[in-house]
Amino acid sequence: MPKKVIIILIGLLLVLGIAISALVQTRPGSNVPAQSGSALIGGAFELTDHTGKQVSDKDYLGKLMLVYFGFTYCPDICPTELQHIAGALDIIGDKRRKQITPLFVTIDPERDTRELMASYVENFHPDLVGLIGTTEQIKKMGKNYRVYFKKVVDKDSPDGYTMDHSALVFLMDKKGRYIRHFSYSTTPQKMAEGLIKAMN
Ligand code: NI
Repeated sequence: MPKKVIIILIGLLLVLGIAISALVQTRPGSNVPAQSGSALIGGAFELTDHTGKQVSDKDYLGKLMLVYFGFTYCPDICPTELQHIAGALDIIGDKRRKQITPLFVTIDPERDTRELMASYVENFHPDLVGLIGTTEQIKKMGKNYRVYFKKVVDKDSPDGYTMDHSALVFLMDKKGRYIRHFSYSTTPQKMAEGLIKAMN
C-alpha cells in the first residue's frame, strides 16, 4: 500500500475514533459510572454475631464478604442457599476461604436468638457467621442491601407466621463495596468460580 493511502487510512480511523468517543460521551447517562447501581447496595451495619459479640461492617473489612439474608425457621430456601454457600466455600479450598467471611443475617429478629443462630450456622459451615440484631438494625441493613422481606401470616408455620424474602447472595469486596450477587439458582460450583474470579 502506498504511504499516502496508509496516512489517509490512519487519519480516517482517528476521525472515526473521535466521533465514536464523542457519541459515547454525549449518550444520556454516560457520565454515570458503570458501577453506579451497585454502589447503592451495601453500607454500614451494626449487629451481634452468633457468639454474642457486637460487630459492625468494619470488623469484616480486609476480606471479601458474602452476605445472605434469611431466617432459621425457613423451611427450604435458606437451608438450600446456605448449603450452596457451604459447598462453594469447600470448593475454593482453605487458602482462599481465609480471604472471605460468609455472613448469614437474620430477617426474623423476633425469633432468631443468639443461641438459635449459633446452633443453626454450625449445621452448614464452620466459617459461617450468623448475625442477629434488633428489628431496627435488621431493617436498616436490609434496606441498604435492597433486600425484600416481609412477615406473612401462615397458620401451618411455627408461631403462625413465616417470612417472605429474596434469596440473593451478595459478594462485597475488601472495602465492603458491592461486587456482584448470586441468585438462588447459582450452583455451588458456579458460585465458587465467581468467588475465585473476585479474588484474582
Ligand atoms: Ni428462607
